[in-house]
Amino acid sequence: MTQLISYDQRLIKANETQKKGSVTALSSRWYPGYHLAPLTGWMNDPNGVIFFKGEYHVFYQYYPFAPVWGPMHWGHAKSSDLIHWETLPIALAPGDAYDKDGCFSGCAIDDNGTLTLIYTGHIITNKPHEPETIRQVQCIATSQDGIHFEKHGIVLSEPPEKVICHFRDPRVWQEKDHWFLIIGYRTDDDHHQGTGHVALYSSKNLRDWSFSGTLLSDDSRLPAGMRSYMWECPDFFPLNGHHILMFSPQGLEPQGYQNRNLYQNGYIVGSWVENQFKPQTFFTELDYGHDFYAAQRFEDGKDRQILIAWFDMWESNKPSQRDGWAGSMTLPRELQLVDNHILMTPVKEIENLRISEKTHAITTLNNEKHHFRLNSPLQEIELIIDLRKSNAAQAGLALRTNNQGQETVIYIDQSQKRIVLDRNRSGQNLQGIRSCPLPETNKLTLRIFLDRSSVEIFVGDDTYSGRYTISSRIFPEKDSMGASLFAIEGKMIIDSFKSWVLQDANALYYHP
Ligand code: FRU
Repeated sequence: MTQLISYDQRLIKANETQKKGSVTALSSRWYPGYHLAPLTGWMNDPNGVIFFKGEYHVFYQYYPFAPVWGPMHWGHAKSSDLIHWETLPIALAPGDAYDKDGCFSGCAIDDNGTLTLIYTGHIITNKPHEPETIRQVQCIATSQDGIHFEKHGIVLSEPPEKVICHFRDPRVWQEKDHWFLIIGYRTDDDHHQGTGHVALYSSKNLRDWSFSGTLLSDDSRLPAGMRSYMWECPDFFPLNGHHILMFSPQGLEPQGYQNRNLYQNGYIVGSWVENQFKPQTFFTELDYGHDFYAAQRFEDGKDRQILIAWFDMWESNKPSQRDGWAGSMTLPRELQLVDNHILMTPVKEIENLRISEKTHAITTLNNEKHHFRLNSPLQEIELIIDLRKSNAAQAGLALRTNNQGQETVIYIDQSQKRIVLDRNRSGQNLQGIRSCPLPETNKLTLRIFLDRSSVEIFVGDDTYSGRYTISSRIFPEKDSMGASLFAIEGKMIIDSFKSWVLQDANALYYHP
């Protein structure tokens, strides 16, 4: 049906829907105050994150017509400071022969001042046999003003070898006079099982691409016994003297604390020598929370590598669908590589969201609870604990509590040596515990960002902030505004406990 109306008409219809819907989403009890989220409808992967002509752009997988995944459009927002986002007209709508059923994930490039998008055209072929039911091709679109895009069709039509349907999510970068492109694909084999691969291509003009080999595949760099069938959303970039291959594998089995989400998002550290990636580590997950996927990274004008991920997960419970929207982005995080591990800290600009600061006087808790109230659902909390002097079996914070037992609990477990997020009572029948290692440190910093439907924990030790992160969505009731600090079976010694009310940057933008 969609093919019968012109491209312009399709875009107009999608844009009108986006505009109309904004009223409902923004009044939703769970709509974020300072995370990027769709004005209406469904959002998944960040796409084409780029610093272009002095501004930050984030595109994203978007379906404006309902809060469910559908034929993918590219939503678009920009910001001058990474926290105040302006939603722009939709950049790409599907429906042409080469992207008939979706404009899937991809990247943005500054091609001599032309903002250029390279993305996957998704085509459902309806052929009866698995390897051929879907076809995926790589397409290009350009814009002179950074807002309106012209689609130019296919630039890469065939995968490098036989695949089972999946050949998508191109990422492009430039080195000297060459462009490189990497892309995820799923090989076919005799049993139609297939494994995840990343292919490497090169080009002189962004239009004609030649295959330069497999950058890496499942067979080589996952710990023994782990197998994945598809690598989505690959990215490849230099970080502190090494090269990082970041991607989102599908099909990994849970092992101990690892791979507990339906799909993972992580990285392999290595070197990039003569157009070959030499991996040095196994796959490591980036974040320890429930909702973190398909991250994209870009370098900004200040020499920073910044990452934004989809702050949600496939097939998870998404209560905000009832309010007409679903999905959000994580806070932008600055990356650093230390001892082959990626550390993530919120970009410095986040501090500009702080409206009022409170210093809590409490210094010791001995097998007791200290209650307080959150004066806003938008909060930053920083708790610095003297870990060497603290001997409680469990100690931490319960947030967004009410007297019916709702709570989101973050605590240190000394015997397990883990920092735990328990969202079993975080509202709307969410479930699950996630945890990260407890660093060996004298002072432990928990920097926590609460938004109306999310919590992000940045764990710092004596040397680094952002040693580990835990990012999860929560869906508390509006009036669950209680909180407590607690220590069970022993003491928690607090060096500093501060909180800040954060600005509702999204509301400010739409209702200045
Ligand atoms: C990852 C992903 C991508 C694909 C897009 C479709 O979440 O499955 O591989 O391009 O989402 O929306």
